[in-house]
Amino acid sequence: MSHLDNIPSTPGKFKMEKSPYINRLRLHSSLAKLTFWSFVFLGLILIFFFRSPSSNPLPSDLSRRSLRTSSWGGPAWEKRVRSSARVRARNGISVLVTGAAGFVGTHVSAALKRRGDGVLGLDNFNDYYDPSLKRARQALLERSGIFIVEGDINDVALLKKLFEVVAFTHVMHLAAQAGVRYAMENPGSYVHSNIAGFVSLLEVCKSANPQPAIVWASSSSVYGLNTKVPFSEKDRTDQPASLYAATKKAGEEIAHTYNHIYGLSLTGLRFFTVYGPWGRPDMAYFFFTKDILKGKSITIFEAADHGTVARDFTYIDDIVKGCLASLDTAEKSTGSGGKKKGSAQLRVFNLGNTSPVPVSDLVSILERHLKVKAKKNIMKLPRNGDVPFTHANISSAQRELGYKPTTDLQTGLKKFVRWYLSYYSGGKKASG
Ligand SMILES: NC(=O)c1ccc[n+]([C@@H]2O[C@H](COP(=O)([O-])OP(=O)(O)OC[C@H]3O[C@@H](n4cnc5c(N)ncnc54)[C@H](O)[C@@H]3O)[C@@H](O)[C@H]2O)c1
Ligand SMILES: *[C@@H]1O[C@H](CO)[C@@H](O)[C@H](O)[C@H]1NC(C)=O
Repeated sequence: MSHLDNIPSTPGKFKMEKSPYINRLRLHSSLAKLTFWSFVFLGLILIFFFRSPSSNPLPSDLSRRSLRTSSWGGPAWEKRVRSSARVRARNGISVLVTGAAGFVGTHVSAALKRRGDGVLGLDNFNDYYDPSLKRARQALLERSGIFIVEGDINDVALLKKLFEVVAFTHVMHLAAQAGVRYAMENPGSYVHSNIAGFVSLLEVCKSANPQPAIVWASSSSVYGLNTKVPFSEKDRTDQPASLYAATKKAGEEIAHTYNHIYGLSLTGLRFFTVYGPWGRPDMAYFFFTKDILKGKSITIFEAADHGTVARDFTYIDDIVKGCLASLDTAEKSTGSGGKKKGSAQLRVFNLGNTSPVPVSDLVSILERHLKVKAKKNIMKLPRNGDVPFTHANISSAQRELGYKPTTDLQTGLKKFVRWYLSYYSGGKKASG
C-alpha cells in the first residue's frame, strides 16, 4: 500500500492566482483524480473477486493473510475427512499430518495408513517448488484412501473444524517453509509457516478435547555454526546460520512454552538432509540429477581453505521409521480445555544417518547410477546460510526410539534414481 502514500496531498493549500490556466489545471486534476479513484475502486473489486487462497499460496506480506479456503465444509466434505481418519487397526492412532503433500509428509502418511492408522492430510500446495509434484503425491495417497485437505495451517477456523470432526490422538506436523537460500528472496514465508503457522496449530491443539500429542519437524540446521561433531541434542543451538534455522530454533522454544503452560506432549525431530524417491527438487541431489542428465554443468561448493562440504544424508525410509517410533512412544498430553493438569513429555531427537558424505562423493555415486559424467564447476561456499558439514549423534534416538538407520547413500540414491527416471519419463518435465 506504500504507493498510496506517494500521492501528493490535497492541492489548494496554497493561495493561487485565478487564471484560466489554473482553472484548466484544476479541471484536469479533478478528472485525473476521478479516473484514479475509479481505477482504485475497480482494482479493489477485481482483487475481491479473484483472490482465492489456492491461487495465491505464498504471500510475502503476512498482514493481509486471513485465509479461508473456499472449498471446505459441508456433509460430503466431513464424510471424506472422517473416512480418511478412520482407524482400521486395533490400537491404531488417528493422525493429522500437516504438509502431507510434501516429501516427508507423503511417505509418513502412506506408512501410517499401511499399518492401519487413521490419516488425514493438510497442505496448502504452495508453489515454492513445482506444485505438480505435490499433486502427484496427493494422487498417490488418494489411491490408498488418504484425503489431503487443501488449506493453510494459519487458518484457525479450518483447524478447529478438523478437530471437531475428528478426535485426533496425534499430530504429525511437517508443514513448513524449507530451504536455506530462499529465505533471502521470501523471508516472510518462513515467519508465516514456521512461526505463525506453528503457533496457530499449537493454539488449536491446546484447546482441543482431548489434546493430541504432537511430533514435529525441526532441523539439523539449528546446530548452525557448531564445529564440534557429531552434533548432540545437548549442544548449543543459539548460532543459526540462516533465517530458516532461526525459525526452526524458534519453533523449539515455542514448543517448550506450549508444553510448559498447557501440558502439550511435544517431540521435535531434527532431520539431517533427507533424500529419496518423491524428494524435493530444491535439494542438491535432486537438481544435480536433473542437470547431469541434461548435460548442464553443476556447481559443487567447497569450504574455506579447500575443505570438503559434507552432509549426513539420511534415507527417507529411515526418517519414516523415526517418525513412527516418535508417534508410538509419545505420551498423552496432560491438559484439557486449554488448562494444564500436570507436566507433559517434551523431547528433541536427532534423526540422521551418522555417516557424513562429501558432496563430491554424492556426485560420483550419481554419475555411476545415471551412467553419465557430470560437468563440474567448483566454487567457494557462499556465506548465505549453508554450513560446511553436518553429522548427527543419534544415540538418544537409538536409546529411546529404537531408531537405527539402515540405508547407505549408495543404496538410497539407487532407489532415488530409479524413481526419478520413471517419474520423469512419462512426459512430465522436471522443473524448479
Ligand atoms: N527434507 C529435508 O532434508 C529436511 C531436513 C530438515 C528438516 N526438514 C523439515 O521436515 C519437514 C518436511 O520437509 P519436506 O522435505 O517434506 O518439505 P516439503 O516442502 O516437501 O513439505 C512441506 C509441505 O508443507 C506444505 N506447507 C508449507 N507451508 C504450509 C502452510 N503454511 N500450510 C499448509 N501447508 C504448508 C508445503 O506445500 C509442502 O507440501 C519440514 O518441516 C522441513 O523443514 C526437512
Ligand atoms: C553422543 O551423545 C551422547 C549423549 O546423548 C553422549 O553420551 C556421547 O558421548 C556422544 N557421542 C559422541 C561420539 O560424541
